[in-house]
Amino acid sequence: MANRRFLITAALPYSNGRLHVGHIAGAYVPADTYVRYLRATGADVRFICGSDDNGVAALKTAREQGKSVEELTAHFNACQKRDFDGLGIEFDIYGGTHQPDYAKTHEKFCQDLFLKIHEKGFFTKRSTKQLYDTEAEQFLPDRYVKGTCPHCNSDNAFGDQCEGCGRAIDQLSLVNPISVMTGTKPELRETIHWYLRLDQLQGKLSEWLASKKDVAACGAQWRATVLNQSLGRIEAEGLPERAMTRDLTWGVPVPLDDPDAEGKSLYVWFDAPIGYVSFTGALCEKNGEGLDAYADWWKNPDCNVVHFIGEDNIVFHAITWPAMMLASHDSDDLQGIKGEYQLPHNVVSNSFLNIKFPGKEEEKISKSRGTAVWIEDYLKTFDPDPLRYYLTAIAPESARTAFDIDDFVNRNNTELVNAFGNFFNRTMTFAHKYFDGKVPAVGSRDDVDTQHLARCEQAVEKTGAELEACHFKAGLSEVMALARAGNGYFDVTKPFLSRKTDMDVCGRAINVCFQTARTLTTLIAPFLPATAEKCAKMLNLDDNWQSWANATEQLPAGHAIGEAEILVKKLDPKEVFAE
Ligand code: MF3
Ligand code: ZN
Repeated sequence: MANRRFLITAALPYSNGRLHVGHIAGAYVPADTYVRYLRATGADVRFICGSDDNGVAALKTAREQGKSVEELTAHFNACQKRDFDGLGIEFDIYGGTHQPDYAKTHEKFCQDLFLKIHEKGFFTKRSTKQLYDTEAEQFLPDRYVKGTCPHCNSDNAFGDQCEGCGRAIDQLSLVNPISVMTGTKPELRETIHWYLRLDQLQGKLSEWLASKKDVAACGAQWRATVLNQSLGRIEAEGLPERAMTRDLTWGVPVPLDDPDAEGKSLYVWFDAPIGYVSFTGALCEKNGEGLDAYADWWKNPDCNVVHFIGEDNIVFHAITWPAMMLASHDSDDLQGIKGEYQLPHNVVSNSFLNIKFPGKEEEKISKSRGTAVWIEDYLKTFDPDPLRYYLTAIAPESARTAFDIDDFVNRNNTELVNAFGNFFNRTMTFAHKYFDGKVPAVGSRDDVDTQHLARCEQAVEKTGAELEACHFKAGLSEVMALARAGNGYFDVTKPFLSRKTDMDVCGRAINVCFQTARTLTTLIAPFLPATAEKCAKMLNLDDNWQSWANATEQLPAGHAIGEAEILVKKLDPKEVFAE
């Protein structure tokens, strides 16, 4: 296991708004948990994120808010970074595809890849008809056209997607299109774009995706939702070629010496995933390794690239982005060779998170309807770990789940406080009261003791196996099961009785409780880093306590422990609902 190498990315959030619990549950808490776990196993890991600044989303919001797009994206880039910091989501770098410190490098990476694909012949230049707003004097990006959905008749359809039925839409198929910018009826005009030949790449793509069904052979546990959606797309409709350029000036300029390329940018979904690469380069530079060291991560078959995303990003990460990389390859080798972009080892996607307010029905999270819990607001009142706990405990790993405010309070109080916190608390209190703040002697352990300690070993193994497979919910439930087993052990061995009759017997039980607490500290760390820090401080552990290999290391008798602290606060429903 030593020296495994991983490059972990979390979807680049659009820098045109704040982050809510749905974003965090989708990609960021799972990615951070995975990174922390991998590091605990000794893997060499880089964790990359940053904002998705280019394209229409930011432009549209900036226009609505009367700000420059630079100002808007810088503002939300900083906000989002604060939110991540507040939740203990610790990227090695948080870039931004159009942030001043990153834009130049990013542009270079994007243009290089575009030119490489161009040189390999995987673009076709084609003239097409597109909606043009004669009043605003510009072509309308997909999001700037509204109309009636050709599939479900909803009036809430845009040129890229219908908000009614969720289907992807071609702007030209919209019934009664209207320009969002001016409210006028747009006209059809000719424009020229570069199309990625997905049709020519689909054979290789489906071969590659199919190879991911075999967990043992590919070494990664791909989720069914990801494989079904991407392979399903290829099998059902085949892949049409897709325009990778736009009539837009906010973005990465199309790097061709061609008058037809003037005034055009790369499609935001072309440039955004390259952000993962360009930010890696920026990180290498920051670390003094030089920009080119990005290739040790991206063009090195010994490195596993894993993308964490939400369900609406599956097609882009499992089809379009791998297609871009494949199109740049000189070799035919699907696994890639040193010096060429490696296809992702895994693409880990969660479904969306709904929300349920007390006394209301479960509903979709919506900014406009005000049904979101914003991270910024949450962090004003609460610690990060209760949220991390809840979002993992209810993680929408295979289907939608809901953030239920009642359930959030309840699970914090019954699980985190009563099971986990209480186990530490009773163990610590006992040692301070009756054993002079030290781990008592081992004594002669009986079957109950040894069975419980074997249970600890199993928990390390099982939690590790679940985390390897990106089953975060199951991993957390293993840890919590061990905390409950710790309480069960305490209840059965009854040190509170034996302390009156036989201090050796009492000490023996408390010793086992400390070993359990020691193990729990390492196991909970990927999920609840701040809580684990407190545990480690209470147990007075040395610096290596996060190492997975040391999780069942035995605290020696006589080891002095630290002060007892409240590990997790009880949440008062009244206070929470006031928020
Ligand atoms: N900004 C996109 C979204 O929020 C995600 C982009 S992921 C990227 O849906 F890698 F491609 F950048
Ligand atoms: Zn529809």
